[in-house]
Amino acid sequence: MNVLVIGSGGREHAIVWKVSQSPKLTKLYALPGNPGTAELAENVSGVSVDDHAAVADFCKSKRIDLVIVGPEAPLAVGLVDSLSAEGIRCFGPSQAAAQIEASKSFAKDFMARHHIPTAKYATFSNYDEAVCYLASVDHPIVIKASGLAAGKGVILPETDEEAKTALEEILVKKVFGEAGAEVVIEERMTGQEVSLMAFTDGTSVVPMLPAQDHKRIFDGDKGANTGGMGAYAPAPIFTSELMNEAVENILKPAVNGMKSEGNPFVGVLYAGLMLTPSGIRTLEFNCRFGDPETQVVLPLLKTDLVEIAEACVDGRLNELNIRWKKGAAVCVVLASKGYPEKVESGKVVTIEKLPDNMVCFHAGTKIENEKIITSGGRVFGLTAWADNIKTAIHNVYANIGKISFEGVQYRKDIAQRALS
Ligand SMILES: Nc1ncnc2c1ncn2[C@@H]1O[C@H](COP(=O)(O)OP(=O)(O)O)[C@@H](O)[C@H]1O
Ligand SMILES: [Mg+2]
Repeated sequence: MNVLVIGSGGREHAIVWKVSQSPKLTKLYALPGNPGTAELAENVSGVSVDDHAAVADFCKSKRIDLVIVGPEAPLAVGLVDSLSAEGIRCFGPSQAAAQIEASKSFAKDFMARHHIPTAKYATFSNYDEAVCYLASVDHPIVIKASGLAAGKGVILPETDEEAKTALEEILVKKVFGEAGAEVVIEERMTGQEVSLMAFTDGTSVVPMLPAQDHKRIFDGDKGANTGGMGAYAPAPIFTSELMNEAVENILKPAVNGMKSEGNPFVGVLYAGLMLTPSGIRTLEFNCRFGDPETQVVLPLLKTDLVEIAEACVDGRLNELNIRWKKGAAVCVVLASKGYPEKVESGKVVTIEKLPDNMVCFHAGTKIENEKIITSGGRVFGLTAWADNIKTAIHNVYANIGKISFEGVQYRKDIAQRALS
């Protein structure tokens, strides 16, 4: 089979890495890919992901049998619909199904319709009405731009003043553009967060191993919020009882709900969960693999990812027995100096050979003058897997010096939470 993976981050490098091990694979392409995927696949340049006709032409000319879409943006604008209309098989949701991530207001109403446990909420497009609502609630809140905002659209205000400012910026000053045409104001909950991704063919749903990530820049979960500084899987806090609860009360109702509304969801459904004192609540759904979670979950997947993706596209996921390795995986993100604010890029990278059961996923690198240089905030995800999480933590930190570039910063306490 010829397979095309769309995207260019650490998540896509992890997908390419896993797909490259498939016994079904003939030829693998990454569009546009990164220097990490280039070692395992042919990176495609000169085709814009935004140009659906050009992507379809590429797929036809290379006889692509399966497309796996990594990021949410192309899903939200209907890449899967465009390619499917041309007879090209895609692992990923349609535009209508991708709304579950692309519109938080859709997602909240959807959860309400299907009794999926989530925080209380209200939706506004008018600033004055939103401010009025603020005055009427007596609990702490969270404000969210409804549309895709690259992880920057959620504000946890400490005071009324901060809340009003956030509403003004989103609804009046339009700092998130159309993504902020609506806001969702939610009740603020407390508890640990778990990322639960699942494969689904639109009817059946199979959860992956639960993962937890570390969002803050500094050790001890201090400092600014980031896209994620590291992750581990499986998350010991997420017991099999909690897994059952999440599958029965969240994943199944979501998949059934999308189907019954005429928008069957095919691909990876990601539930962002909070373990609150009153039970599991859904923070959000994403319509694709998470990053960096994928960098710890896929190395533990025993079953061929191509086989799973095909079964999802063909609607026969229930025929598969998806298997996982025993043990655990840990990923530590190596970030550029200045991240998550203004970052220094263009630093030359050196990567020494890593031991078995480790891989260095590229997230923000590019090639210039035949050298790999840094090109983003999060540069690498260094992942190790082992029989137990302690050994995985040890291995990742024992080898972290093998990846170097000027100004590198990383957290020293990734996955410590899993030991306590
Ligand atoms: N209702 C809530 N109560 C408490 N914290 C929340 C709530 N909603 C979101 N958060 C926090 O904000 C983060 C981002 O929110 P989320 O809905 O996942 O949006 P996105 O990932 O699209 O930015 C969550 O991971 C969580 O830490
Ligand atoms: Mg989130």
